[in-house]
Amino acid sequence: MSLLIKNGRVVTAVDDYKADVFVENDKITMIGEKLDVKADTVIDASNRLVIPGGIDPHTHLDMPFGGTNSCDDFLTGTRAAAFGGTTTIIDFAIQVKGNSTFEALDTWHKKAEGKAVIDYGFHMIITDMPEERLPEMTKLAGEGVTSYKMFMAYPGVLYVDDGVLFRAMRQAGEDGTVICMHAENGIVIDEIVKRARAEGKKEPKWHALTRPTRMEAEGVYRSIAIAEVANVPLYIVHLSSSDALEQVKLARARGIPVHAETCPQYLFLDHSYYEKPGFEGAKWVMTPALREKWNQEVLWKGLQFNHLQAVSTDHCPFCMKGQKDLGLDDFAKIPNGAPGIENRMSLIFNGGVAERKISLNRFVQLTSTNAAKMFGLFPRKGTIAVGSDADIVIFDPERTETIGINNPLMHHMNVDYSAWEGFKVKGYSEIVISRGQVLCDKGEFKGKPGRGQFLRRGLYSGFNL
Ligand code: URP
Ligand code: ZN
Ligand code: ZN
Repeated sequence: MSLLIKNGRVVTAVDDYKADVFVENDKITMIGEKLDVKADTVIDASNRLVIPGGIDPHTHLDMPFGGTNSCDDFLTGTRAAAFGGTTTIIDFAIQVKGNSTFEALDTWHKKAEGKAVIDYGFHMIITDMPEERLPEMTKLAGEGVTSYKMFMAYPGVLYVDDGVLFRAMRQAGEDGTVICMHAENGIVIDEIVKRARAEGKKEPKWHALTRPTRMEAEGVYRSIAIAEVANVPLYIVHLSSSDALEQVKLARARGIPVHAETCPQYLFLDHSYYEKPGFEGAKWVMTPALREKWNQEVLWKGLQFNHLQAVSTDHCPFCMKGQKDLGLDDFAKIPNGAPGIENRMSLIFNGGVAERKISLNRFVQLTSTNAAKMFGLFPRKGTIAVGSDADIVIFDPERTETIGINNPLMHHMNVDYSAWEGFKVKGYSEIVISRGQVLCDKGEFKGKPGRGQFLRRGLYSGFNL
């Protein structure tokens, strides 16, 4: 099987030039000017960008949380990702406290197999890590699970104390892997939540009002300090506030290997969404919560000046009917999370490139290349180069679409609302190719459930990010 993409503008993390790209089976085998080759399929990419498929390093598909399961599974979630120009995700397997992490890996393999339409890897969420289980971490790395997430938030659920943090971090460092951190002081936040509930505060907005940015900053500071002593690279997930970013900047200025991602919700949405009438604010109940608007400009600066290295979605959708409404009478019972796996590329292109905040190269770094480098996928993924997987998006930089559940081109997620309803975005993933196969073609899905492959990732390689 061969594919020739002609006349496009090829943009990677560092390049920007007109060329043809030739694909044989699942790999890129030739790039050049006016390639004189025959191909089974020819795509004319005139006036289009030819960019590496997006990599979303933070998704939660079919995840048990808040008394229910996130409502996109590995079929609906990866299909929606593909429509949005994302060809690789890294999802999270969750260790059941007291049980083996390998059991969790097995469970998540079963969730994905036969369903995923794009390639996927797993981070392992550690919920406990006694001394005798530490060798499991080394074995996991051998299986291609080379990153872990730990939670300083959600006491009694996913929270781990500083001892567990340190133990797992030290082992991860010795193994050459990386720690992803949900950095928020959940113990203090729980106290604030308890008092708010006792005072009869019920509405969704109290989710945000009980989670001060200072407690995110404290988590970031503490996790960096512990990681520094444990000698392990750290990746702060879903960083949402200026206070938290300040701590990342300070550590990076000291030369500590700390990286961080933010998400579109923290770049475009703000605290005022919780003031919408009735229960509507529940759509944006996520952790960390949406912040005051002024934080957005600080986060964009963080992306511009490389204090932040990636944009993920933290896609964790729950329907308003039958899921979010579990917390109709108590904000603390609203399942935490929001949808977005499909919207990231267009949102960041529009808010970043079209609005002249970031360059095209930076757009590719933030949505693809840096995640590949951080999580052991580069150069197989995250670039357009001879020998790389042919994960390619033919991107129309001029086309404008409005995101919303009634736009069949922009909403394929299995969730009954859009967190981005009415957002007008310039930039559309017109043709999406995964390992040489056209998956999405101008709104038509051509992939097969289960074609996505599990990615055995290499060790941490984000040294220079
Ligand atoms: O609200 C969120 N972010 N839900 C998903 C779990 C997490 O903390 O990433
Ligand atoms: Zn988290
Ligand atoms: Zn998450």
